[in-house]
Amino acid sequence: MIVRPDADGIRRAAEILAADSVVAFPTETVYGLGAHAFSEKAVGAIYRLKNRPSWNPLIVHVASVEAARGLAETWPARADELAARFWPGPLTLVVRRARHLPGIGAANDTVAIRVPAHDVALRLLEASGLPLAAPSANRSESISPTTAEHVLRSLPDVPLVLDGGACSWGIESTVLDVTGEVPRLLRPGALGLRAIRDVTGAIALPDEVADGAARPSPGMSRRHYAPRARVLLRKDVRDVDRAGLAEPIGVLTHEGEGTEVLSADPREYAADLYAALHRLDDAGVATILVQEPPQTEEWLAVRDRLSRAAAAPE
Ligand code: TXA
Ligand code: MG
Repeated sequence: MIVRPDADGIRRAAEILAADSVVAFPTETVYGLGAHAFSEKAVGAIYRLKNRPSWNPLIVHVASVEAARGLAETWPARADELAARFWPGPLTLVVRRARHLPGIGAANDTVAIRVPAHDVALRLLEASGLPLAAPSANRSESISPTTAEHVLRSLPDVPLVLDGGACSWGIESTVLDVTGEVPRLLRPGALGLRAIRDVTGAIALPDEVADGAARPSPGMSRRHYAPRARVLLRKDVRDVDRAGLAEPIGVLTHEGEGTEVLSADPREYAADLYAALHRLDDAGVATILVQEPPQTEEWLAVRDRLSRAAAAPE
């Protein structure tokens, strides 16, 4: 059920969370499927509903830096600097996990944490008083939800979805490992690398992240963020031999003509990408021809998601 995030909606959601069940809620990036992060039963419900592989760990959402620190065994000075600059916001920090807390997924001795920049998410965290594990609220490997309606279409069994309208960033948080000397990018995302480097200096950018080949973050399976339609990435979408492609064909561009023409600005493009893929799926398109975005760092997160959407099923 989709529910307005007024006092009554938040109270109902908090009650469900207190009973070790799940609720979906908006964040500034995408909608999350939330549950008490350190309840085995609650976390089990997330994995089951999403059909998510049990090794893939979840991000824990908290309301403050102080609450984040409480989940960490050690809280590096660098984490403080980054949190001061970017929280609440679309940056997830991987730190050593406090010893008294159970691990989530295959994260042996670490935990991924962020403070979301969304009024509804923060009110829910406060009302529930719980740290909330929240992966994107979609079936594993499919497109992340940026509206409450997207959530219910992908996960019809979620008991309650708090409706916060469309997410402003529309793409997941950037995941950064700060357990080592040099911060390591695990997943490109909403927060750009340039902004992070302004605070930290050099960031290790594993090749696998740059070209989407391997799995530096356990969750980064090659095929992910995929619509039902087959996705083909091409430099020039006008120049494609369409014989042999399943019809109907949809075209997603950021220049010239297309079924979906998104902005040529990477932030605006990212904000609308998942919604556009959902629209193309809803229109019954069988093939999506996507104009490749530029090979620049500003487009890193978008290129990452598109190349995963285009990967053949494993
Ligand atoms: O924007 C977001 O981050 C959204 C919203 C709801 O906050 N959440 C999200 O969660 O994208 P999810 O589960 O779809 O992606 C979590 C990513 C995965 O790539 C996972 O492997 C990685 O974070 N991750 C979680 N815990 C980790 C850990 N301890 N070490 C390394 N990677 C971790
Ligand atoms: Mg996800």
